[in-house]
Amino acid sequence: MGKQRVLSGVQPTGNYHLGNYLGAIRNWVEGQSEYENYLFVADLHAITVPHDPTRLASDTYTLVALYLACGLNLNHSTIFVQSHVSAHSELTWLFNCITPLNWLQDMIQFKEKAIKQGENVNVGLLDYPVLMAADILLYQADKVPVGEDQKQHLELTRDIAARLNHQFGKPDQPVIKLPEPLIRQEGARVMSLADGTRKMSKSDASDLSRINLLDTPEQIQYKIKRCKTDQVRGLTFGDPERPECNNLLTLYMLLSGKKKEEVAAECQDMGWGQFKPLLTETTINALKPIQEKYQGIIEDQAYLQSVLREGREKAGAIANQTLAQVKTALGYSLPL
Ligand code: TRP
Repeated sequence: MGKQRVLSGVQPTGNYHLGNYLGAIRNWVEGQSEYENYLFVADLHAITVPHDPTRLASDTYTLVALYLACGLNLNHSTIFVQSHVSAHSELTWLFNCITPLNWLQDMIQFKEKAIKQGENVNVGLLDYPVLMAADILLYQADKVPVGEDQKQHLELTRDIAARLNHQFGKPDQPVIKLPEPLIRQEGARVMSLADGTRKMSKSDASDLSRINLLDTPEQIQYKIKRCKTDQVRGLTFGDPERPECNNLLTLYMLLSGKKKEEVAAECQDMGWGQFKPLLTETTINALKPIQEKYQGIIEDQAYLQSVLREGREKAGAIANQTLAQVKTALGYSLPL
């Protein structure tokens, strides 16, 4: 049996931060050789909310370079850009025509984003989960590592696939394979530097709430200096009254590579004045190799383009085959 196929997409908006790194990509990199990985930059999803056209392409390249810098290996992983494989858009249209409107209107993320946007809600925002279903089903993925917030979209993906199979396949001959609803276990939950009860987020208005992978040592120092703490002396994990303390210790543990007990013993008598410089230095040192690698990659545009060209070819071959299967099932005559 071949390796299982894992697929995921990430939007090229915002700042890629420590929460993204420690919660997702680092684990992915560690386990990458066990799977056949497909990772794409979801630049079609990026325009479902107002976006800046002067940044779309550069944000896309930045994300690809960051992934490579974090250790994604091209022997195990195919990296591509969603808009480079036109089958994503085309399958979305076909799925649109079999997806009941009320399924989309019921999506939690749509409702939340629509409220935020007020009157300016476009059809693309509503259709976002259908595009996501197309992303996943085109590759007949086995596993889709996404965060909690995307769980409902994954369930919708299965519903769309089941409906397609029911309406246009035969019981013993489904048109499309259903992905396992298995959501990859999230790694560490990294919380905001401004509030230890909220997740570190790229959409938080304050940049002081997160440490971005590309922050300079000075920025990192400043953010840790300013981050929220408390008045208590002695640092401990797991005290529900001290969410910031738990978060900062966890960050220190993950970035230093030390064990939890080790960190607990080391920091039990520390005050913040002693701990903050330690966390600062550890963070700067942990990010340095990634940042150096990133710099080398982002300056080599020819290399980046060759990665994406190869990604587009590999991904496109699989995607177009699935698309043809669906079109055939729907009764289209395929171009000869
Ligand atoms: N919607 C996902 C997010 O914002 C990104 C995404 C788009 C995705 N298409 C996908 C994730 C397909 C997994 C599979 O996180």
